[in-house]
Amino acid sequence: MRLDGEVAVITGAGGAIGGAQARLLASSGAAIGVADVDMAKAEAMAREITKAGGRAIASALDVRDLDQWERTLAATEAAFGPVTVLANNAGANVRTTFDDQTEAMWDLIVDTILKGSFLGIKAAVPSMRRAGHGVIINLGSIASVRPGAMSPGYGAAKMGLVGLTRSAALSYATENIRCVLVSPGHVDTPFLRADTPYSPNDATTSLDNPENYRMRLAATPMGRLMSPEDIARTVRFVISPEAAAITGSMITVDGGAAM
Ligand SMILES: NC(=O)c1ccc[n+]([C@@H]2O[C@H](COP(=O)([O-])OP(=O)(O)OC[C@H]3O[C@@H](n4cnc5c(N)ncnc54)[C@H](O)[C@@H]3O)[C@@H](O)[C@H]2O)c1
Repeated sequence: MRLDGEVAVITGAGGAIGGAQARLLASSGAAIGVADVDMAKAEAMAREITKAGGRAIASALDVRDLDQWERTLAATEAAFGPVTVLANNAGANVRTTFDDQTEAMWDLIVDTILKGSFLGIKAAVPSMRRAGHGVIINLGSIASVRPGAMSPGYGAAKMGLVGLTRSAALSYATENIRCVLVSPGHVDTPFLRADTPYSPNDATTSLDNPENYRMRLAATPMGRLMSPEDIARTVRFVISPEAAAITGSMITVDGGAAM
């Protein structure tokens, strides 16, 4: 499935799910704007792609900041031509009860996931118009189907992406710009294992805890956790001409977990 001529800005591309997309799309012929709030991780991914013979530039991007979005889009377009693909992967979560979720936690989660995706679409569409086509991928979750009691901000933001995806799909359908929500199930990544500022984990929440690992496995009918590559292959399909009639919809990639 070749993507020659496509130019993709991928957020959270220094991380697991965004990184797998950056590698796969680059090896399929697309040029990549590797965007992450952590510039060291973005640079490492861009170097890896270039070393493997692909085309990539790194960009420091906090998705909550419109100016940084505009700089990222301008730099990517200057390097490779108009941007035709946007993948909004950057996310945040703080796994607390409703009672314990603070306003600051809510703002971190909702601003990163929902406002960040909104700003990205606003920044990318003018470039897609210059290209004459475009595909926007928003990264959902099981919480986009069935939000749980934990972390109300995460449920609200990932459900909010259902609405944002439909709104963008309807707004740009006549301009040959599609928007699709790709919703992963349980994926074994640092998001669920590590203790980061955007996704804190401790022994009660981390996949490093064998009990948590077993719980997520038991919640997945296919009997295995998803890999970042599972998600990346779906994203490549959504970008490809094979998916030319798909817009405004959600594709779950979850081994059946959201049923
Ligand atoms: N891992 C899972 O099980 C799972 C399941 C469903 C959805 N998701 C979603 O996948 C996305 C990516 O997560 P991952 O599993 O690859 O985690 P990850 O921790 O490997 O990667 C997340 C990346 O996002 C970057 N980031 C964080 N805040 C940012 C910001 N404000 N601006 C720009 N970049 C920022 C981080 O630096 C990191 O590189 C998130 O939106 C998450 O909600 C993950």
